[in-house]
Amino acid sequence: MDKQVWLSPMEGVSDLGFRNLCINQGADMTFTEMIRADAIVRGNKATLSLIDTHIPLKQGIQLLVSKPAILQKALEKIDFTNITGVDLNFGCPSPDVIGKGKGPALLKRITRMRDLLTILKTHSPVPCGIKIRLGMNYREKENKIYLKVVELANEAKLDWITVHPKTADKTSQDPIDVDALKEIIAVAKIPVIGNGFVCDKKSAQEMFDMGCSGVMVARAAIGNPWIFNEIKGISVTKDFAKAFEEYKKIASLYGTKQKYFNYHNEIFELRKKGDMAYHSPSRIDVY
Ligand SMILES: Cc1cc2nc3c(=O)[nH]c(=O)nc-3n(C[C@H](O)[C@H](O)[C@H](O)COP(=O)(O)O)c2cc1C
Repeated sequence: MDKQVWLSPMEGVSDLGFRNLCINQGADMTFTEMIRADAIVRGNKATLSLIDTHIPLKQGIQLLVSKPAILQKALEKIDFTNITGVDLNFGCPSPDVIGKGKGPALLKRITRMRDLLTILKTHSPVPCGIKIRLGMNYREKENKIYLKVVELANEAKLDWITVHPKTADKTSQDPIDVDALKEIIAVAKIPVIGNGFVCDKKSAQEMFDMGCSGVMVARAAIGNPWIFNEIKGISVTKDFAKAFEEYKKIASLYGTKQKYFNYHNEIFELRKKGDMAYHSPSRIDVY
């Protein structure tokens, strides 16, 4: 398998238009933002609209879920036409998520994790995996709970494990723990996708050299969908106006939420002026 270059799930960013743009610029896989499985099961309209998989694309949905029965019901309810993967989120550091015992708060609950991964693999009609951090905090990291999770992922024969190698109490600016990532690669029998600060060919190559089967890019892809081809060594021409038009075409045709549209509009305008910095979407400050 060629080394994979994937787009991260990003709340407020990864809508259909943006995923399509990234695929057209070399992304091998993309994901929706995290979607709450219990709200899917309840039929919550706003939540269901986040499953914006209206055209065939290499695109997975990312679910946030803590109960195996809910996961099973959600997987039974989702229409998998145009969906090529399912990922479970065990990395979101938001107090709202952790406070409800979800995301990284689940990593230490081995029995619960085993049940979730078993349901995922047995009920997902498409390839599936998980995205993890190293634990909630230093103590959990010292106990190497992440290696237990990797063993569960091996046991369940998941199709990937994406690792954002830091604990949930670390900010987006804190460095990744390369040693822990290497330990995970040594134990994993399934493809490991490395995540965190991949922003060019060099930083991606470092992860490939460690033994990652792929990398997942988040912030560096915003307003810069060419990053995927750049990582693959393909020469690119960055036309920000044209890229936004391409985004707009799909976003308008399939009716994206206004907040996504405004964000991408704003970002591409900034890029046109030479501002290549990361600007968080409004209201999202946890990543
Ligand atoms: C705006 C924003 C929203 C995010 N939303 C999600 C999400 O819904 N699910 C998830 O697993 N990670 C989410 N993340 C985390 C990223 O997927 C990724 O793990 C993190 O940003 C590190 O990658 P990077 O250094 O390439 O940005 C988000 C990150 C950002 C910047």
